[in-house]
Amino acid sequence: MILALETSCDDTCAAVVTAEGEIRSNAISSQGLLHARYGGVVPEIASRRHVELVDAVTADALERAETSLDEIESVAVTRSPGLIGALLVGVASAKGLAAPRRLPLTPVDHLHGHVVASTLQPGPIEPPYLCLVASGGHTFLARVDDPAGYAVLGQTLDDAAGEAFDKGARMLGLSYPGGPEVDRLAREGDADAFDFPRSLPGDGLDFSFSGLKTALLYAVRDLGDGAEARRADLAASYQRAIVAALIARLGQAVGREKVPRVALGGGVAANSELREAAEELCAGLGVELHVPPPELCTDNAAMIAAAARFTDPLDYPDYLGLDAAARS
Ligand code: KG4
Ligand code: ZN
Repeated sequence: MILALETSCDDTCAAVVTAEGEIRSNAISSQGLLHARYGGVVPEIASRRHVELVDAVTADALERAETSLDEIESVAVTRSPGLIGALLVGVASAKGLAAPRRLPLTPVDHLHGHVVASTLQPGPIEPPYLCLVASGGHTFLARVDDPAGYAVLGQTLDDAAGEAFDKGARMLGLSYPGGPEVDRLAREGDADAFDFPRSLPGDGLDFSFSGLKTALLYAVRDLGDGAEARRADLAASYQRAIVAALIARLGQAVGREKVPRVALGGGVAANSELREAAEELCAGLGVELHVPPPELCTDNAAMIAAAARFTDPLDYPDYLGLDAAARS
């Protein structure tokens, strides 16, 4: 059994997962409300909160898995990318759990976790597959032939899709994190009300969301006092543009790579319109779609354990000097 920790951003997460990918527990303590008043994650506050929560969340994960540290065979932890102070809390905690028991420790890249989240049970995806990862910090298309790694086929040239959701939400006066708020409000609006740009830069599979963000800014500004009454329409049209760009690239990638299976990952994969559009696309193309449940799309430690299953562990004491890294 693997005990995994994830503290790269504002969620303190611990999970117990078997070597076969069965999730025994997946504990998440979100700091969302703590950062909401600042309109975004404050790194210093996130680090301090991880320090306060990590032991309790780890204990919770062990208890929910009906196990104890004595039964854990290896520890995994996110070492990159993310907020450096936040990552360091997880890495130090993981060392503290593994070293006294002489357990192996597996350093995991957070993005690898998002890419292989759908290899967890039940119904694990089999390679080869394409994964669209859309989160608050990253947006890219990955091809997976062997879950030990992945090839990036295309990525955002500016903002991540989740960032576009969060910044858009802020312009609409919604609270942080904005994705779920826009998702909710969009259901009450008309997605055809505003014609926002769907930027598909270049001939490859890259994304761009900064122009769209500016278009929303101008629309809100032009509406002035009338913007308030049109919030749902703005949210629906804005969300439609983000989803359309993601789906267009996913469709192109499937056509180019000729893979039989597709997975979604990252926090934006929790978006209801994206999930529906991906289902429609994949049904039309005759490929199998794997969308993990929302709690495996947003940041979590089960996906870190998933990636650890395909990553070489470090033996004691080789990991004592392991450092976190802000970049992959
Ligand atoms: O993967 P994640 O939890 O953290 C990062 O690695 O960044 O993704 C967080 C992002 C945030 O930008 C949040 O607004 C977005 O995922 N998100 C959503 C939804 N739920 C979370 N975006 C759109 N619709 C949602 N339902
Ligand atoms: Zn993430």
